[in-house]
Amino acid sequence: MSTTANGRTADYSIDTIFLERWSPRAFTGETIAREELFSMLEAARWAPSSSNAQPWRFLYALHGTPAFEHFVSLLVPGNQVWAKNASALLFFVSKKTSTSPSGKVVPLGTHSFDTGTASGFFALEVRKRGWYAHGMAGIERDRAVQELNITDDYHLECAYAVGRHGDPATLPPELAEREKPNTRRPLAESVFEGKLQP
Ligand SMILES: Cc1cc2nc3c(=O)[nH]c(=O)nc-3n(C[C@H](O)[C@H](O)[C@H](O)COP(=O)(O)O)c2cc1C
Repeated sequence: MSTTANGRTADYSIDTIFLERWSPRAFTGETIAREELFSMLEAARWAPSSSNAQPWRFLYALHGTPAFEHFVSLLVPGNQVWAKNASALLFFVSKKTSTSPSGKVVPLGTHSFDTGTASGFFALEVRKRGWYAHGMAGIERDRAVQELNITDDYHLECAYAVGRHGDPATLPPELAEREKPNTRRPLAESVFEGKLQP
């Protein structure tokens, strides 16, 4: 049995939230309450992580604040053009080490994996609440690391735009054209019984 929602069809039966979450670029720029954003981050907080180390860190800025303008300026121009209309912008950062009770600093091999899991939880909670989250690797990385105080024991993972879906006509034509949910390659191309078949 497959599932269809949001113009997308899954190969197997799943909760429709996985199909309803997608990454639009047309945002309304309306205000988001800090309480609402924090509920989205609360979902991320409950992600599993290796040894429950919770290596994720979330930096946020709300539309209309000087911090928001700063965050926009840390994105590549191709993301700035649409992300400037988000209601909130975030940077997801991970801590690369943990400190044992005896004070020994140990590397956390799964800091990115764990923060990616938190990011997935976040994006689903955002959608459940009627908002959209759009991940961005397109960051002016060197400047962001420096200007956001991201020291050597942290890794800048990605940025997120959060907002309500707006009118695609507000986007440059080449982005307006792409403003629809995309699809996936078949599950069979990613799943193997036993050994990997590259
Ligand atoms: C870590 C990450 C980085 C991404 N970077 C960008 C980006 O810089 N700019 C952009 O427009 N979309 C970016 N995306 C959005 C992806 O292109 C999008 O998630 C993918 O095409 C799947 O589409 P969907 O999220 O609508 O299902 C990024 C997504 C993730 C998860």
